[in-house]
Amino acid sequence: MRTKVAIIGSGPSGLLLGQLLTNAGIDNVILDRVSKDYILGRVRAGVLEEGMAGMLDRAGAGARMHKEGLPHDGFSLAFDGRDHRIDLFGLTGKRVTVYGQTELTHDLMDRREAMSGLSIYEAANVTPHNFEGGKPYVTYEKDGVTHRIDCDFIAGCDGYHGVSRKSVPESALQTFERIYPFGWLGILAEVPPVSHELIYANHPRGFALCSMRSETRSRYYIQCALDEKTENWPDDRFYDELRRRLPAEHAERMVTGPSFEKSIAPLRSFVAEPMRFGRLFLVGDAAHIVPPTGAKGLNLAASDVYYLFEGLQEFYGEKSAAGIDAYSARALKRVWRAVRFSWSMTTMMHRFPDTGEFGQKIQEAELDYLVSSKAASTALAENYVGLPY
Ligand code: APR
Ligand code: PHB
Repeated sequence: MRTKVAIIGSGPSGLLLGQLLTNAGIDNVILDRVSKDYILGRVRAGVLEEGMAGMLDRAGAGARMHKEGLPHDGFSLAFDGRDHRIDLFGLTGKRVTVYGQTELTHDLMDRREAMSGLSIYEAANVTPHNFEGGKPYVTYEKDGVTHRIDCDFIAGCDGYHGVSRKSVPESALQTFERIYPFGWLGILAEVPPVSHELIYANHPRGFALCSMRSETRSRYYIQCALDEKTENWPDDRFYDELRRRLPAEHAERMVTGPSFEKSIAPLRSFVAEPMRFGRLFLVGDAAHIVPPTGAKGLNLAASDVYYLFEGLQEFYGEKSAAGIDAYSARALKRVWRAVRFSWSMTTMMHRFPDTGEFGQKIQEAELDYLVSSKAASTALAENYVGLPY
């Protein structure tokens, strides 16, 4: 088989890139290790910047997001027993849309199917070859048979654990990493959210986040130790702990109900540089991970795809390699800004086991400054709604 762009990974990055390429008449094939249902069973964040929402529209897959997504004009920082609203819209003129990544993935898959785009699921041993030379190809196994796809470019959209980044010689790659000394224990429950906006809470017992998927479905998180087990957290214990970390007005109003998903995620910051090796590009989680505190993971995938798509379109349309040559530097510039923001939100909102009393006082002073200075609130809001690209 031959295609122009072989895309490894059918997550948001791969699907978005595939759709933009298909719409522009640039043929592509998507390969994924797992099944479509498995991908749609993953639970992940869901706060979309306007840039991401615009990309979904550009892909022709934004209709349901406009109908069912919840526009949010602000969020709360809770500490010292009360809420401090960050007026995103008032400070920046922009808002975010709360729309689950699972739904967004579904919409992109539906769109791809409607346009007869080729996706090969449950492809084993996907391997990129010869990307440092001029004739790259990808091999994979399916039903015991080895297949080969010749292509012009390979897009590594296969997430943090994928094969693309691992195929690059170690000496060609520089990585930067920070592991945080805690995790997030999260639940999904069919209960109305405690507030119509998100609440990020800093509390002596640890961070908590009240988010949602819809007006009837809540997504709640609490900071936990890295070695915690979900079995130790029956729903009642979870809600008790969550309530203790929220201002009384929310704790008293919270509606509880059985969770249907419960999981623990570690928090990490990670960047691999560069994001291009010859004819292989790394996109989204394959190149970088941010802790979820700033809700930037999905949105960074969208900006990477934007830069790469622009470059590929220029390559095929105008026969210029300028855009693909600039891809890594352009993407990384925005990636590092979001890595910085996610790190700073994480540092400001969590209890660190080893900061000591001085560190604690600094954190309190930072929060106090943030909510009492319009300049500081604006800087937070500007990053939260998403820096331009
Ligand atoms: N071969 C083929 N496919 C693979 C391989 C492999 N060796 N390894 C991983 N994949 C697939 C996974 O099964 C997954 O469907 O690549 C896809 C990667 O998707 P994501 O992990 O969602 O990464 P990405 O599309 O970059 O999404 C970025 O979405 O997942 C969130 O936290 C992430 O919010 C961020 C955003
Ligand atoms: C979520 O809804 O899962 C969510 C929202 C905001 C975040 C992280 C996760 O910062």
